[in-house]
Amino acid sequence: MHAMNIVPAQNLACPIDKLELLKEQRHYQCANGHSFDIAKQGYVNLLPVQHKKSKNPGDSKAMVQARTRFLDTGFYKPIADLLSDIIFQQLDNDKDNCIFDAGCGEGYYLQHVINAAQAINSESHLSFIGMDISKPAVLAASKRSQQASWIVGTNSQPPFLDESIDLIFCVFGFHSFDGFKKILKPKSRLILVEPGEKHLQELREIIYAAPPGEKTESKSNDHNDYTLIDTKTLEFKIQLTNNSQILDLLNMTPHLYRANSEGKTSIESMDSLSLTTDIMFKVFEYNPVNNRS
Ligand SMILES: C[S@@+](CC[C@H](N)C(=O)[O-])C[C@H]1O[C@@H](n2cnc3c(N)ncnc32)[C@H](O)[C@@H]1O
Repeated sequence: MHAMNIVPAQNLACPIDKLELLKEQRHYQCANGHSFDIAKQGYVNLLPVQHKKSKNPGDSKAMVQARTRFLDTGFYKPIADLLSDIIFQQLDNDKDNCIFDAGCGEGYYLQHVINAAQAINSESHLSFIGMDISKPAVLAASKRSQQASWIVGTNSQPPFLDESIDLIFCVFGFHSFDGFKKILKPKSRLILVEPGEKHLQELREIIYAAPPGEKTESKSNDHNDYTLIDTKTLEFKIQLTNNSQILDLLNMTPHLYRANSEGKTSIESMDSLSLTTDIMFKVFEYNPVNNRS
């Protein structure tokens, strides 16, 4: 039996002029001389200041730490397991593939997918890219695995060569159909993992006076080049057994900012909570029918 060969990504592109980035000792450089340092933890920042909408975009360090503590409890492992299954069902595992986690956060899901890849019997080469707009998130992710290329960057202008990605997945993230078009190969896959209507409904009932439904609509209507080929749902219960777990969950979701003060106070005194987890996996095939530009 041969385990898959995991190799570094070879398709990084300069975020300024889109030229191929070549790796030197401690930095990447394009033919026009734009240079990007490799941090000592191994990640590279490919988010130029002109692509930033704020000084410190994306999740804060406190949110990242709450997410790491929560995900490391294993509550969301069934999501990571099903995601890995779907990914390796969708790919032709006898070919070389580049898998990209768009909005990877602190790297929990990509680390899980990399572990699952080790069990696949194939002699082909796999490369993994995890990218997030939040520097604290990518810093945390780079500690989870040395086998991925970790990038600070934005989904709206992903810094990779045209037609160089075989599969993108985006978990609870800010996907960009337009941004992804530039880098996906024809007939490649995009997997969106999104909350279903019942996701964490018990938490929402506590923290909102009138709980809003989970937003399950995609954030862009630009689906022209993407065909939905499969949908799966996953529903299971989790039982949080102490207040830190409850606060970590609240801190890692956008719910915290929308909660009313009464809701926040009741959560602060809770020691246990039973929750419904309701997740949708949408698999798209990318078939370019429109001009890429
Ligand atoms: C809800 S978190 C999900 C993180 C991770 N996928 C997970 O499920 O653990 C959303 C992530 O998207 C990142 N993000 C927000 N806007 C982004 C963008 N334009 N490009 C890439 N990542 C972005 C945030 O920094 C945050 O880490």
